[in-house]
Amino acid sequence: MKVLITGASEGIGKAIALELAKKGHELLLLARNTEKLNLVKDMCAKEGALSASVFSVDLRDSQQISDFCQQLKELDGVINNAGIWQKKSPLDEIPESELLNVIATNLTGLISLTQKVLPLLRKSQNGFVVNISSRSGYAAQAGQSVYSATKYGVRGFTEVLREDLLDSGIRVAGIYQGGTNTQMFNKAGENFAEEKLATFIPTEELAKVVSFLIERPKGVWLPEIKVENK
Ligand SMILES: NC(=O)c1ccc[n+]([C@@H]2O[C@H](COP(=O)([O-])OP(=O)(O)OC[C@H]3O[C@@H](n4cnc5c(N)ncnc54)[C@H](OP(=O)(O)O)[C@@H]3O)[C@@H](O)[C@H]2O)c1
Repeated sequence: MKVLITGASEGIGKAIALELAKKGHELLLLARNTEKLNLVKDMCAKEGALSASVFSVDLRDSQQISDFCQQLKELDGVINNAGIWQKKSPLDEIPESELLNVIATNLTGLISLTQKVLPLLRKSQNGFVVNISSRSGYAAQAGQSVYSATKYGVRGFTEVLREDLLDSGIRVAGIYQGGTNTQMFNKAGENFAEEKLATFIPTEELAKVVSFLIERPKGVWLPEIKVENK
């Protein structure tokens, strides 16, 4: 299948790319950092991807999303994974720039990209949309007001999209995982120790869940998956 993965330059998106490469899929790898994307692309080629292409796109910029989507000729599925953390704080201490950035990346960008690839997915025999939300998309956790707003938003978007596309043949799912071992938190200034991160869900294991999901045959689907570190 031809699969677009956003946020593929590191963390969970990179792990999903490598897992899908092993299964011989055609991969479109999207993020901003071309250097890191190219490293992932080379790794995907070694793992067995049928093809892998990189696209430097800032999902906060709707023009960049449009320009990217216009290049696409066909697509089976999109894994909307790109996202950023909001450093845990009471709402009145979250800088407005961070508030806008988190919403633009995690929510507006995800919806806008999905909207623009939908015509291609409708033409596929195996169309799917997988949205990576979070445990923060169904459970309230102190200090995460803005991040949670985006992740609850992704859940609402996912559930309505699934209803809207019931007769289209396009399958829609949301993934709701707990803490996963990536640098997402520390990049936002959270300073989690490596020992703490090591107790989180391994990215490789989460990637196997996503791979299992998108390879379900027609007639079997998992519309929402909660993943915990147990
Ligand atoms: N880690 C966790 O504990 C956890 C738990 C639940 C849910 N999640 C969700 O899982 C997803 C992946 O998180 P992660 O932990 O893998 O984070 P990560 O390691 O920080 O990776 C985030 C990815 O998103 C890309 N990205 C960020 N801003 C972007 C933008 N404006 N345009 C395009 N790409 C952008 C980054 O690439 P560039 O910087 O190159 O653009 C990177 O590839 C996120 O949606 C996150 O909210 C994570």
